[in-house]
Amino acid sequence: MHKPTILITGGTSGIGLATARLFAQNGHAVVITARDAARAQAVVAAIGAQTGNPEVRWLWGDLSTIAGCQELVVRIRREVPDLQVLINNAGVFMTEKVLNPDGFETNFMVNYLAPFILSTGLADMLARNHPARILNVSTGLHLSGHFDLAQTPYGHDFGARASYRNAKLANALHTVELAQRLQGRGITVNAFSPGLFNTTVMKARGLTHLFFKYAGAVYALFRPIAGSALAPYYLATAPTLAGVTGRFFYQQEPAAFAPQVADAALRQQLWQQTLAWLA
Ligand SMILES: NC(=O)c1ccc[n+]([C@@H]2O[C@H](COP(=O)([O-])OP(=O)(O)OC[C@H]3O[C@@H](n4cnc5c(N)ncnc54)[C@H](OP(=O)(O)O)[C@@H]3O)[C@@H](O)[C@H]2O)c1
Repeated sequence: MHKPTILITGGTSGIGLATARLFAQNGHAVVITARDAARAQAVVAAIGAQTGNPEVRWLWGDLSTIAGCQELVVRIRREVPDLQVLINNAGVFMTEKVLNPDGFETNFMVNYLAPFILSTGLADMLARNHPARILNVSTGLHLSGHFDLAQTPYGHDFGARASYRNAKLANALHTVELAQRLQGRGITVNAFSPGLFNTTVMKARGLTHLFFKYAGAVYALFRPIAGSALAPYYLATAPTLAGVTGRFFYQQEPAAFAPQVADAALRQQLWQQTLAWLA
């Protein structure tokens, strides 16, 4: 039987790369997006060689601006018309405030606006290819995020740790709102925390040590990166999750979103404001 075609944003390293490899090993057609052609070509060649799967390719896409995201939508619609699973994985953890040319703080742009633009821009195509799934790579840190529509998008409330959490909270609000808006169209939308892995994003948080000592014993802080692919693989393919939508998972287990995510007025305000920014 034909296995769903998967697209993973940010497939050149970390969790995206591990996830692309696992899907390829299991016979899926896999597309990664990347903003560095040389690295993308090397990753695609390596995954092809390791898995023997010839259906691994990449598309260029820079998610740091609205136009870059919109161009990627056009490219995906043209090049991957059979897409069934979109994994919004690309993410940044900015420890300094950087505004993009559109005026948005970069955590907010890459971790929230990019998934919004990709998911809404591809929804009709995914619906035609149903059953389809959208997965947003989130974090348990969104639970301690704060979202202020007047401040967060522009980095007025910037904090070296807070802005990542706040952007992921915006992404969580979006996950539930999109899931509700796509009800009945054959697309589920969920978010998950992959757990802790020693990737570039974590190094940006200053978490570079691999082990810690507690009560005389040595523990590994991070698990092997290959394990980070298990949750997205399960959430994208498990037959038991057909129809499960608008949920948060900690790895493969159902978990609770931050309480603010239940605020329908806030979710709708963010949705309408985002459409206005994109108009
Ligand atoms: N690692 C963890 O423990 C952990 C925990 C919770 C959640 N997460 C989430 O997991 C996801 C993957 O992160 P990771 O840990 O695997 O980190 P990573 O190794 O830094 O991977 C991030 C990926 O996103 C891409 N990316 C970043 N900015 C981009 C942009 N402007 N345009 C296009 N692509 C861009 C990166 O491409 P370049 O290589 O070109 O920069 C890279 O491929 C993120 O959403 C992160 O928030 C990670």
